[in-house]
Amino acid sequence: MTYNFSIMPILTANSMDFISRSPEQTRRLGIRLGGLLRAGDVLALNGDLGAGKTTLVQGIAQGWGSTDAVSSPTFVLVNVYRRPDGALLHHMDAYRVESALEAEDLDLDAMLSSGALIVEWAERITAALPTETLWVDMRWIAEEHRSLVFKPVGSRNQHLVSEFKRLAFGG
Ligand SMILES: Nc1ncnc2c1ncn2[C@@H]1O[C@H](COP(=O)(O)OP(=O)(O)OP(=O)(O)O)[C@@H](O)[C@H]1O
Ligand SMILES: [Mg+2]
Repeated sequence: MTYNFSIMPILTANSMDFISRSPEQTRRLGIRLGGLLRAGDVLALNGDLGAGKTTLVQGIAQGWGSTDAVSSPTFVLVNVYRRPDGALLHHMDAYRVESALEAEDLDLDAMLSSGALIVEWAERITAALPTETLWVDMRWIAEEHRSLVFKPVGSRNQHLVSEFKRLAFGG
């Protein structure tokens, strides 16, 4: 694969990719990441059906501190998970959202001021998302293998990824 570095410096500067070898490993990675999230953070997940997006979110919600059950919000568009201290984690599935405009109607700003936001099928509503977003591309490799590519945009998200890397891999 070739990258045009002149137009992708931010995306490529601190991107990180690796292979998960089981759903449990994907959940464990989510737990690490979830512990780092705070209000205002946006995590944009992309990848085909069954790539493991919801599996990752299950770990994230756990690591973030919610005991609420995580399920795919395909039909309600947004699930909200609560933590004992009142913080919120919003979990959106944009699969059935028709456009970025429709996504804006969901009032992302209000979600971000009250908590963090995770979006499955985020590429469908890119225009509605803040520039400073942590993009995660997931891809089916084999029955139990998935690749995950983290692409942080903005200093907060670069910091998130480097902390995540340190926690998950001791790097
Ligand atoms: N390494 C892995 N990481 C994540 N999931 C895996 C892995 N290996 C196998 N799986 C399985 O793949 C499936 C992933 O389903 P999941 O609902 O997380 O995908 P999704 O990306 O959210 O799909 P959708 O677009 O339909 O919402 C689960 O059945 C999970 O057990
Ligand atoms: Mg899903």
